[in-house]
Amino acid sequence: MNLIKTASFIKSSSVYFECPEHKLPEYAFIGRSNVGKSSLINCLTNRKKLAKVSVKPGKTKLINHFLIDKAWYLVDLPGYGWAKVSKTEKLKWELMVNEYLQKRENLHCVFLLIDSRHEPQAIDLKFMRWLGEREIPFAIVFTKTDKLGKIKLQKSLGDYRGVLSKEWDELPIQFQTSSISGIGKNKILDYIKQINGK
Ligand code: GTP
Ligand code: MG
Repeated sequence: MNLIKTASFIKSSSVYFECPEHKLPEYAFIGRSNVGKSSLINCLTNRKKLAKVSVKPGKTKLINHFLIDKAWYLVDLPGYGWAKVSKTEKLKWELMVNEYLQKRENLHCVFLLIDSRHEPQAIDLKFMRWLGEREIPFAIVFTKTDKLGKIKLQKSLGDYRGVLSKEWDELPIQFQTSSISGIGKNKILDYIKQINGK
């Protein structure tokens, strides 16, 4: 078992150079609004209210740093692809997140969250391309697996991999999670531990 002992909110930043000192390894969670980024951070840390969760999309608006076991950071980012957001807000988000992803020296891996129920969405595929072109390491996390039965889930993920295989020679590592049951939590924590140990 891989348990997090301490988790504390450090700060919210609106630009990469305001983020905490970059001496410790960090892991950022990104994906469409409402996909479950903040919920997964709470699940990984066994805390109900560490990261702010909402049924309404657009809850997380800044770069939020959480210090884990005094040794590494989890970072909650705002979601993309929310239709109701204004063009100005969208541009502001893009600049904030894109700069952070490209310039944060201690960012070891980006976890890109995808709702396991949905067909591949152009916006996610485009974002993966953007990460790939910049050689930013990322893993895929299929979220909300509790909402599908086993067979439907495997079909949905199989179809997703099929689409990805058309443009990627090698697929990134993938995880399946449910923030309700805690499925997938240990595998993600093991993966982080493995990178931290390198
Ligand atoms: P933004 O901050 O708005 O970008 O959203 P987010 O990606 O951080 O999503 P958040 O964690 O706030 O969750 C959005 C909604 O999905 C909430 O109502 C959660 O309770 C729900 N949710 C998140 N993860 C799961 C999951 O694994 N299973 C189920 N059934 N619901 C989930
Ligand atoms: Mg959030």
